[in-house]
Amino acid sequence: MSFVEDSQINFANFPTDQLIELSYVSQSANDMGILGLMNLLEDVVHKNKRNGITGVLFYDNCIFGQIMEGYPQHVELIWKSIAADPRHKEIQVLDINPLQKRRFSNWSMKFYGSDEISQYVPELKMGLKDTGATLPNEILTLMRSVSDQNDDAKNQG
Ligand SMILES: Cc1cc2nc3c(=O)[nH]c(=O)nc-3n(C[C@H](O)[C@H](O)[C@H](O)COP(=O)(O)O)c2cc1C
Repeated sequence: MSFVEDSQINFANFPTDQLIELSYVSQSANDMGILGLMNLLEDVVHKNKRNGITGVLFYDNCIFGQIMEGYPQHVELIWKSIAADPRHKEIQVLDINPLQKRRFSNWSMKFYGSDEISQYVPELKMGLKDTGATLPNEILTLMRSVSDQNDDAKNQG
């Protein structure tokens, strides 16, 4: 599996009642300080709530990784803002695919900073640091691994 080209991202390929998942990695334009991240997340959470978007955002060492879930028309709207956002560059789409059931249904956007990544998904540190060396589907699998289902599994012991 290789990165997805922009021309392959066609939201009209999906029926409007089909949940989809869009994932990507990117580089921050500048080192995001805590205030920058807080500002970003404030925008994100409100707008995602309004548009029924759920997902997870990772940030470590100037690299973002994100999974967004929702209906195609909503994901497309948000994706257009994200793709044009000057706070990051070199956006590489990992995958866009239909989804049976949301993985992050409890989260307008779950956030994992450097500390959470080290604690819960240490393998992702390397994946985000060197996106050239790690396969897109490996990065995606690691990002999905922090989903609600896995939380439930852990809580049940
Ligand atoms: C790495 C990154 C991830 C983002 N994720 C989202 C997101 O999940 N939802 C969202 O609404 N905006 C997200 N944004 C912010 C959008 O690019 C945009 O600033 C926001 O939607 C507000 O846009 P508006 O002022 O045109 O409404 C993200 C930005 C960056 C840099």
